[in-house]
Amino acid sequence: MDGANQSAVSEFVFLGLTNSRAIQLFLFVLSSTFYMASMMGNSLTVLTVASDPHLHSPMYFLLANLSFIDLGVSSLTSPKMIYDLFRKHKVISFRGCITQIFFIHVIGGVEMVLLIAMAFDRYVAICKPLHYLNIMNPKLCILFVLAAWMIGLMHSMVQLAFVVNLPFCGPNVLDSFYCDLPRLIKLACTDTYRLEFMVTANSGFISVGSFIILIISYIVIILTVQKHSSTGSSKALSTLSAHITVVVLFFGPLIFVYTWPFPSMNLDKFLAIFDAVITPTLNPVIYTFRNQEMKVAMKRVCRQLVSSRKIS
Ligand SMILES: *[C@@H]1O[C@H](CO)[C@@H](O)[C@H](O)[C@H]1NC(C)=O
Repeated sequence: MDGANQSAVSEFVFLGLTNSRAIQLFLFVLSSTFYMASMMGNSLTVLTVASDPHLHSPMYFLLANLSFIDLGVSSLTSPKMIYDLFRKHKVISFRGCITQIFFIHVIGGVEMVLLIAMAFDRYVAICKPLHYLNIMNPKLCILFVLAAWMIGLMHSMVQLAFVVNLPFCGPNVLDSFYCDLPRLIKLACTDTYRLEFMVTANSGFISVGSFIILIISYIVIILTVQKHSSTGSSKALSTLSAHITVVVLFFGPLIFVYTWPFPSMNLDKFLAIFDAVITPTLNPVIYTFRNQEMKVAMKRVCRQLVSSRKIS
């Protein structure tokens, strides 16, 4: 983080989402509700999978990892956004800004690889059911999780390598509610055209690439389900469409933010609310609460939590 020393800029100013009192109030209620729901839903998922030996299988481990990551996604930008909503002067330190960018890209990368791992898990379970236990063994599962963190870390470090030494000499106003590369780079006092291209290519490639892989895998799964249409197929189809909804809601805004060519229109700023606030809350709802085994285990965990509170 040597860039902080060379730069004249020690903090950045957010313009935030809106100046309208009514919309601020609406966003405040919406974001706080979703933030609390995400914290409770995702913690409960992690706790349930960890404490129930019946759920110690690859699918549930991946689910718990996704929930763990979603706790991070929720906490990256929304607490600061909620805190800033009604403030006139919204600032973030140079260091804070770089830290936010670092974690956004680590956690975003991990989440993408985990979503792909979960699609692969469903592919094997539905298309190769007889080999499921052989293919999705605990080793492969650990490998997926390690790969997710490695890819996330590498992606983020590459992105940051581009920006830590950029000269910031004065302009420090970001028309956004969080720090991210596309807008930050534009503030640097140098010709940033090539840098913008690199950053867009890096994030665009990883997000569009993952999105295409996911959509293709779900199409293959759906075609397989329909070919062997049996009693279970309508349930499988409803599960799959729920997964696809999550994928589209997660990647849609993301791809838009990184590849939208018209920065003068602020649509991307509002779409970013989806990934900051809404999708991390939807994952436990869609992946977990629709799952019978998981629901039973969660009720047990909740009862235990309540009764241990009564005793103490
Ligand atoms: C993530 O997955 C790994 C590998 O299966 C597992 O050992 C670990 O407990 C999981 N992490 C969480 C938070 O559930």
